Amino acid sequence: MNAIKPVDRLTASQAAKELDRLAREIAEHDRAYYREDAPKVSDAAYDALRRRNADIEARFPDLVRPDSPSHRVGAKPSEKFGKVVHAKAMLSLDNAFADEDVVDFAARVRRFLGMKEAELVFTAEPKIDGLSASLRYQDGIFMQGATRGDGAEGEDITANLRTLKDIPLRLHGKPPALLEVRGEVYMTHKDFAALNKRQEAEGEKVFANPRNSAAGSVRQLDPAITAVRPLHFFAYAWGEASALPAGTQWDMLQAFKSYGFTVNPLVRRCRTTDELLEFYRGIEARRASLGYDIDGVVYKVDDLELQNRLGFVSRSPRWAIAHKFAAEQAETILEGIDIQVGRTGKLAPVARLKPVTVGGVVVSNATLHNEDEIARKDVRIGDSVVVQRAGDVIPQIVRVILEKRPKSAKPYEFPDKCPACGSHAVREVDEKTGKEDVDRRCTGGLICPAQAVERLRHFVSRDAFDIEGMGEKHIKAFYDEGFVKEPADIFRLEKEHGKEIVGREGWGEQSARNLFEAIGRRREIPLDRFINALGIRHVGETTAKLIARNFHTLGAFVEAMESDRAIADLDAIEGVGETVAEAIKDFFDEPHNRAALKHLAKEVTVTEVAAPAASGSPVAGKTVVFTGTLEKMTRPEAKARAEALGAKVASSVSKKTDLVVAGPGAGSKLADAQKFAVKVIDEDAWLKLIAGA
Ligand code: IVH
Repeated sequence: MNAIKPVDRLTASQAAKELDRLAREIAEHDRAYYREDAPKVSDAAYDALRRRNADIEARFPDLVRPDSPSHRVGAKPSEKFGKVVHAKAMLSLDNAFADEDVVDFAARVRRFLGMKEAELVFTAEPKIDGLSASLRYQDGIFMQGATRGDGAEGEDITANLRTLKDIPLRLHGKPPALLEVRGEVYMTHKDFAALNKRQEAEGEKVFANPRNSAAGSVRQLDPAITAVRPLHFFAYAWGEASALPAGTQWDMLQAFKSYGFTVNPLVRRCRTTDELLEFYRGIEARRASLGYDIDGVVYKVDDLELQNRLGFVSRSPRWAIAHKFAAEQAETILEGIDIQVGRTGKLAPVARLKPVTVGGVVVSNATLHNEDEIARKDVRIGDSVVVQRAGDVIPQIVRVILEKRPKSAKPYEFPDKCPACGSHAVREVDEKTGKEDVDRRCTGGLICPAQAVERLRHFVSRDAFDIEGMGEKHIKAFYDEGFVKEPADIFRLEKEHGKEIVGREGWGEQSARNLFEAIGRRREIPLDRFINALGIRHVGETTAKLIARNFHTLGAFVEAMESDRAIADLDAIEGVGETVAEAIKDFFDEPHNRAALKHLAKEVTVTEVAAPAASGSPVAGKTVVFTGTLEKMTRPEAKARAEALGAKVASSVSKKTDLVVAGPGAGSKLADAQKFAVKVIDEDAWLKLIAGA
């Protein structure tokens, strides 16, 4: 570097120029260091460049560039992730498990295109087991990064992704003016092990597997934390683009490489189905030594024009498929069986295992499902067992290796008392079927601390009140102290126990303030989330939405539930059955629940949820019944379309029904329609009615 001018003597235009130069220079050194393993300058010289960059930025904060290297170490934590609507949906893939599924896939594609086996080229890629992200570049500069979310809308994780060395802040070469590059964020096995060791030493959360730790690192709010967690990125797809630099998947990957991305080195091109399967076996054999998790391979039609012709079936492309690896198994010893009590009192048996590596992940717990399952498999403490882990699912015990059973092993006796409160634990009998429930439940209800803590945990969880920073540990501690016994107490925490909390172990002034602020932000909540948060048995997110859309306000809901109409009103909601209705009624029959609800309603404002009125649609707000055979669409399709247009789809005809759509073979419902003088139309008339809506 020549003649460095002190920062305080730089003019703004000199500063801007120098920041531009520094951004390029530091990016180049990052590239040499991380990508080519060949640093061009000493660490000290590199550090000096970064310091200079930071000093100039401190004096000219307005000049901080979107591609500034300072973003790599993290900016100030933001409050919460913003939402990003994907310009192009982030789709998922269909799965193949057996070889035949792959044969079928390839045959289907060739048939669709009218091509012979040797004519059609596929790319075959490892399927990285991380979390997918979409990176938006404008004029080659990284502008925004988002998670997949539900495919249509994700979370803005730009600040966190900026800290990844594999994600260029500025693209090389000549990329299109607008380009969204998509791929997988992942953590290597080595980095994962080191991170967990560090977490454990610091008394922090230990992650279950590399994918969780990658997701956890990207989805936390402080980019400085992400910056010190070693995450990587493989580019393999794209979203919106002003132009595409290539005409095949393969060439797209080469283009990504030329822009500065890392592309998985194991990607190959294949022609025949045999070649695809050969690729699969080759990767499967190398799986354990790759150093990162993969859960299968992905085959994609190489030619992008052919991809276009093939198009999509619902949410997955017809031109690609994921060929998943079989679940992995390992043998270990069952050291004990713990009983966990859930929020509805369910006693869930958990197998404590001698830790064993299954597919690169250390497994020390597995689910045993329920009492019958333990008896059926005759699982005994001390047994050698085969555990299995497949992708997301909780590890399971496949079987016992009887030959290795120690003589002392006795059949497991499932407790009939709740381990948390000592109340009786019973298996309910269904009145109608006379069948015993598979789960044993604690009858302690409100006196059971395990249920109380689990309910509170559910109350603050993401789909309910979504109170950030209120983890299980805190809830348990607050409960044990007597600070929080019921949901309303959470909103009184600051006023009543704020002083006691600050200064306690693990709580600084700042972290307590953060928590109280997070709680404060949730004093207003839509009715559906509120209902979900109550933790009523059988009432999850979906049912809560149905109920909220039906009653609109908390007042109307509570009033109906406390009246004689409760069951009838609930039964009338499409999608709500008898079991759910009974469970809700039971909840409201319990005086303590009513009291807790009242206390809570004093602390929060519950906002109204409107019916999904697709205004302008000719069927909005109407109750429609489909009957007979539909010829142009399936039943679920007809129902989904009608609901999307704001109609309520009912399964039986009553005097409240507005319209019956009858196909051939319609029977008693047609008769009912006549009885109640409800308008009847055929499928074609229905399609005409909703056309253009
Ligand atoms: S292509 C429309 N390629 O698998 C196609 N996906 O099950 C978009 N994944 O959400 C995906 N490695 O998170 C593709 N080489 C690869 C992949 C891959 C991992 C993930 C991705 C996707 C999921 C679908």
